[in-house]
Amino acid sequence: MDTADTVNIALVGVGNCASSLVQGVEHYRDGDAPGLSNPVCAGYPISRVRFTAAFDVARAKLGRDLSEAIWTAPNNSRKFADVPRLGVPVVEGVLADGVGPGSAALVEPRGGATPGDIAAHLKETGSNVVLNFLPTGAQRATELYAEAAIEAGCAFVNCMPAVLARSPEWRGRFAAAGLPLVGDDLKSSFGATLVHRALVEALTGSGVRLTGGHQLLGGGNMDFVNLEDPARMKGKKATKATGAGTATHVGAQYLPFLDDRKVAYIRLDGEGFGGSPLELELRMVVEDSPSAAGNALDAARHARAALEQGAGGLLEEVSRTLMKAV
Ligand SMILES: NC(=O)c1ccc[n+]([C@@H]2O[C@H](COP(=O)([O-])OP(=O)(O)OC[C@H]3O[C@@H](n4cnc5c(N)ncnc54)[C@H](O)[C@@H]3O)[C@@H](O)[C@H]2O)c1
Repeated sequence: MDTADTVNIALVGVGNCASSLVQGVEHYRDGDAPGLSNPVCAGYPISRVRFTAAFDVARAKLGRDLSEAIWTAPNNSRKFADVPRLGVPVVEGVLADGVGPGSAALVEPRGGATPGDIAAHLKETGSNVVLNFLPTGAQRATELYAEAAIEAGCAFVNCMPAVLARSPEWRGRFAAAGLPLVGDDLKSSFGATLVHRALVEALTGSGVRLTGGHQLLGGGNMDFVNLEDPARMKGKKATKATGAGTATHVGAQYLPFLDDRKVAYIRLDGEGFGGSPLELELRMVVEDSPSAAGNALDAARHARAALEQGAGGLLEEVSRTLMKAV
C-alpha cells in the first residue's frame, strides 16, 4: 500500500486511550462491526489506518513494541482484541509537565528527548497525524509535541484538555504552516459529558431554570490518579463545562477497584412552571478508554484528509463534532 494513501498515526502517550485505539484498529480492520460509528470516514476505511510511531516517558514502556506497551502497567483498559507485533517501538519523548506528582512513582519517568528529536522521528517514520494522549494538565508537553508536529509537517489532534485549539496563537501557527489542527479534549461517543449536556439542553429547552447540580465521576485508571491533583482537574473542568449559568459542580475521585470503568453521577436541580422544583438524578457506568476511541479514529481520518487537501489551521466543524471544547 502506498503510504500516501494511509493515515499514519504517531501516538503521544501510550496509556489506556492509546490501548483501546490500537486494539480498535485490529478489531475493525476487516470492516463493519457493532460499536463503530463510521467504518469509512473522510474517505478512509479502518484498513488504511496504521501506527507508525509512539512516544512515552514511562520506564517500563520504552523500547517495547507498541503491541506490548499497551498491556504494560499502569495501563488497565479492557482487552477486546489480540494485537500482533506492529514493529513500532515506543521511543522516549519530551517529559516537561507530562507526569504529575500522584503518578510519578508508578511511571518512573524518563523523557530527555527534544522537540527536534521528536520531529526527526516523525519524519523518519512517515507519520502524518499526531494524536496527543498526554495526561490531563500536560500543557507545556503538549506545546512541545505540537511544535515538533509543525516541524515535521504533521497534522495534530489534541485529544486531551490542554489549551491548543482554543489558543489563537496555536491556531495561527498551524494555519501559517498549512497544517490541520483538531481539538481540544475528545468527546466520548456516548459519555457523561454528552448525556449531561443533552439533559441540560432538554431541560432549558422546556423552560426549566437550572439552579444547581453536579457531575461526580469515579474511576480507577491513571486519568483519575491525575484528576486528584486540583491544578490538573481545573483543565478537565473547563472542557466539561455544560454552559453558562448552569451552576454545575464537577468532581472526580480515584477508586482503584473500578480499573478502567467510570461511574458518573449526574444531578440537575431546577425550577419549572411557577417556580415548581425539579430534581433529576442519573447514574451511568462506562468503560472509559474505549468510549473515546471511535471519535479519535474519526478525528485522525479527517485530519489526514485535510492534510492531503492542504487545509491548514483549526478544523472547526470536525472539532465541534468530536471534541469537548473549541
Ligand atoms: N474516555 C477517555 O478515557 C478520555 C476521553 C477524552 C479525553 N481523554 C484524555 O486523554 C488523555 C489520555 O488518557 P489515558 O486514559 O490514556 O491516560 P493514561 O494516563 O493512561 O496515559 C497517558 C500516557 O502518557 C504518558 N506520558 C506522560 N507524560 C508524557 C510525555 N511527556 N511524553 C510522552 N508520554 C507521556 C504516560 O506515561 C502514559 O502512558 C487524558 O488527558 C484524558 O483526560 C480521555
